Amino acid sequence: MFMRLLTPVLLALGLVNRAAGTGVDSGFVTASQGEFFLDTRTFRHYGTNAYWLNMVTDEDLDFTFLNIAGAGYTVVRTWAFNDVSQKPASGTFFQTLQGGTAIINDGPDGLQRLDKVVATANKYGLKLLLTLTNNWNPQHAQSSTSIARMRRNNNALPRGFLSNDYGGMDLYVSSFHAGGTHDLFYTDSTIITAFKKYTATIVNRYLNDSTILGWELANDPRCSSTVPASSSCNTSTITKWVAMMSSYIKSLDSCHLVTAGDSGFYCLGCPKIYAPSSVLPQASSNRTGSAFDGSYGVDTQDIISVPTIDFGSFQFFPDQMQTYASKTPNFAIDSLGHGISWVSDHSDTGGSVNKPVTLTAYGIVTKQSWDNFVPVNGTAPTPGGLSTGSGGVEVFQRDFGTISWSSIGLNGHIWGILEYQWAGNDLTGTSSKRQTAHPPPNDGYANYAGPNSQTVANLMGTSNSPS
Ligand SMILES: *[C@@H]1O[C@H](CO)[C@@H](O)[C@H](O)[C@H]1NC(C)=O
Ligand SMILES: *[C@@H]1O[C@H](CO)[C@@H](O)[C@H](O)[C@H]1NC(C)=O
Ligand SMILES: *[C@@H]1O[C@H](CO)[C@@H](O)[C@H](O)[C@H]1NC(C)=O
Ligand SMILES: *[C@@H]1O[C@H](CO)[C@@H](O)[C@H](O)[C@H]1NC(C)=O
Repeated sequence: MFMRLLTPVLLALGLVNRAAGTGVDSGFVTASQGEFFLDTRTFRHYGTNAYWLNMVTDEDLDFTFLNIAGAGYTVVRTWAFNDVSQKPASGTFFQTLQGGTAIINDGPDGLQRLDKVVATANKYGLKLLLTLTNNWNPQHAQSSTSIARMRRNNNALPRGFLSNDYGGMDLYVSSFHAGGTHDLFYTDSTIITAFKKYTATIVNRYLNDSTILGWELANDPRCSSTVPASSSCNTSTITKWVAMMSSYIKSLDSCHLVTAGDSGFYCLGCPKIYAPSSVLPQASSNRTGSAFDGSYGVDTQDIISVPTIDFGSFQFFPDQMQTYASKTPNFAIDSLGHGISWVSDHSDTGGSVNKPVTLTAYGIVTKQSWDNFVPVNGTAPTPGGLSTGSGGVEVFQRDFGTISWSSIGLNGHIWGILEYQWAGNDLTGTSSKRQTAHPPPNDGYANYAGPNSQTVANLMGTSNSPS
């Protein structure tokens, strides 16, 4: 406490060296004793998701970050991967995965686009949470005349329009072991070597850049995706992969934080590799169902307890029907209550292992956005089915959820809240490089940074005080 108060004075007097990685005025976000710090101040943050940033022009990138910073957000989560099976006719791609080879593209339509994303975020004083791969990459072409169904199967929109269309785990599997199960991504030595090589390329490229808050190993890692899991995949499989990859990153990079990126599913009854027996929450009669029984191969208590994991992560998407499955006449009210329980459970988990936790993505689909809704799991039931005009909540209900879930978390051990997803409305889309449509991608969760978001962001801004 005293040192933290004193440090700015010493810095002003030039008595303390600025050093990367020490947590002292280095510009790097650090985690300690269950809190985030930026230089000498605590760093609670409110931010947003925009996975598509590496696909847009310089002009659109600048415009987007200007507006994100203007809305009061301080952190943006975005994709640091963009895998293809063959070079696209135009547009950004970072890696070609085909026929057992992985070729990284560091050209002007490759990682130089990510350089631009990082530089432009830095220009506006924003921090980035960079995600290294994705669990989801459904590529089912299914003939149907229903727009909703075509969207759901990801074949009616240009590449880059959906978060799950940037390659990821299933593309590694199909390239290295065509026809293999999804969980080969976590266990196959050839795939692990390829993914480590990609990871090292990205991590080494931005080793000393404090624009990056941290590395997220994967978006929503699970045993299965559209491609099924083998019978041997369980929570230990994913926890061990998280331990291996996070310690690998730590061996390369001592400055940046590392998180797993899991959705926060629990396995309250599972044996643990890392979690202490005091980890919260404990099993209870109301913590039942697939979000608590390890069905997805995720044990968030064990994952957050991995020594080389600096902070916990979880997500909340009630429309995806995978957290608290219910379609009742009171969907909006149920979701509000489920979100409050979900956030407070995760707050308890972080507190019990003394690590900060970030809600890395959350959203609920509004009536206006329902026709754009794309489930991540193409076979899961959705509230209201998929027909147009059949689901979604009112905007005020979404905004009330945003405020409620955020305030529960921020009064506890949740140190970062990232909305899903940013959707500024005025991109130019003029360059041949740009493949996202105009306006930017909306998979049902586009949020035009309304007044409620700004209220929360402003509250967050004022909560970052010296401690
Ligand atoms: C990062 O800093 C270290 C130590 O100063 C230096 O050796 C290294 O070349 C830098 N790496 C990059 C990518 O700038
Ligand atoms: C996962 O499966 C392995 C091998 O069958 C077993 O040793 C391990 O205990 C299982 N882990 C959990 C958490 O059930
Ligand atoms: C379960 O019940 C406990 C105690 O009654 C309550 O504190 C908690 O919020 C509930 N959790 C869920 C997920 O409903
Ligand atoms: C997708 O949904 C189906 C049907 O509910 C379920 O059986 C499957 O486990 C889900 N897949 C994933 C990866 O969650």
